[in-house]
Amino acid sequence: MSQEFQAPRGFHDIFGEDLKKFRHVSDTVRKILKSYNFEEIILPVVEFADLFERSIGEATDIVQKEMFVFEDKKGRRLALRPEGTAGAVRAYIQNRLFAERPYHRIFYEGPMFRHERPQAGRYRQFHQIGAEIFGADQPVADAEIIKISDEIVKALNVKARIEINSLGCKVCRPAYREALVGFLSGVSEKLCDVCKDRKERNPLRVLDCKVETCKEAVKEAPRTTDYLCEECERHYSEVKRLLDSLGVSYVENPHLVRGLDYYTRTVFEVVSEELGSAVIAGGRYDHLVEEFGGPSAPALGFAVGVERLALLVEVPKEEEPVYFLIPFGDVIPYALKVAEVLRAKGKTVELSLRKGNLRKQLDFANRRGFKYVVIVGEDEMKEGVITLKDMETGEQVRIRAEEVE
Ligand code: HAM
Repeated sequence: MSQEFQAPRGFHDIFGEDLKKFRHVSDTVRKILKSYNFEEIILPVVEFADLFERSIGEATDIVQKEMFVFEDKKGRRLALRPEGTAGAVRAYIQNRLFAERPYHRIFYEGPMFRHERPQAGRYRQFHQIGAEIFGADQPVADAEIIKISDEIVKALNVKARIEINSLGCKVCRPAYREALVGFLSGVSEKLCDVCKDRKERNPLRVLDCKVETCKEAVKEAPRTTDYLCEECERHYSEVKRLLDSLGVSYVENPHLVRGLDYYTRTVFEVVSEELGSAVIAGGRYDHLVEEFGGPSAPALGFAVGVERLALLVEVPKEEEPVYFLIPFGDVIPYALKVAEVLRAKGKTVELSLRKGNLRKQLDFANRRGFKYVVIVGEDEMKEGVITLKDMETGEQVRIRAEEVE
């Protein structure tokens, strides 16, 4: 096929078995979020680029290298959303949701876009289901989102470990930053060129660098948790106490900083060893709403990488069998009536569009793995019945469509 008609690199069609897995992940996550009374919001795919630059942070990979930015006809800079939190914050403020009630639990689902180097589990268009809680500073909210993430991987039967950390707040972060800058100056020659620049502009990002030499160089870096102020320390301890009481297993990773700048206090990632990457990630961002002109509304949330989880799940066998309807001869209107009767009984019916004799049709049905075949020929039409064949046992009966159980 000519290059022109291929999907761009990193953009995928999702169908067949992959789509079944994708939907299984999505349905499971939505069900769990609804059981916690998160309410859905549909957010636009495009926002002003500035919204992401200011929230995710100028010195992050996402903003520096990965955003799809374009100009509209009036020369305004727009971006395909690389994530959902910034848009959710914008929507929370713009729609004055904060005026309705003191706190909100919302979730969104949809495609996100990042110009990353594609590989297994990493795409340029991918899907997230994100959940955010606005207006809650209590540690129980942090414990809740981590517990939900744990429930999601358990419900999907995915092996993953939860890593948590606290990044501190405006009070204690500067001391940590200073200690980190001091440390990084000492290992500067081991850092990649990008990190040499990052260590001045945004030193926390160095801890997140995927380059092996950088990973090695920061192994002994100061731990965020050694610099927490009393309030942050208390908050973090309470989050852990609640997770313990809920039976959620986690490991503390005092170098976990996440790739986005808006986080304060708790951050976490649910990491799959098999994929070598996070399948769910999130944390607290207590100042973002205020920074965008909203009220003081401490907030937190997480996002599920739907494709990543879909790579790891088995789809439960569909319980509902499909009835494959083969019209044979000049019987189409009758066959369509039969289909209607069966569908009214809650059955799933596929009308065969395969041409050819009955043998070919049955072979085709077999290959497709249908449990039941309904044969409707002229004899059946005359008698007002159908021939129902169980493809597993080979048994067949002539009954009225209304009698199908
Ligand atoms: P994030 O860590 O950038 O966080 O992304 C969350 C999840 O999206 C990742 O753990 C991963 O599963 C999936 N993901 C990210 N990039 C890709 C990609 N290129 N291909 C496939 N999957 C990917 C956020 O986006 C934050 N907004 C999460 C959050 C919500 N924090 C607070 N509230």
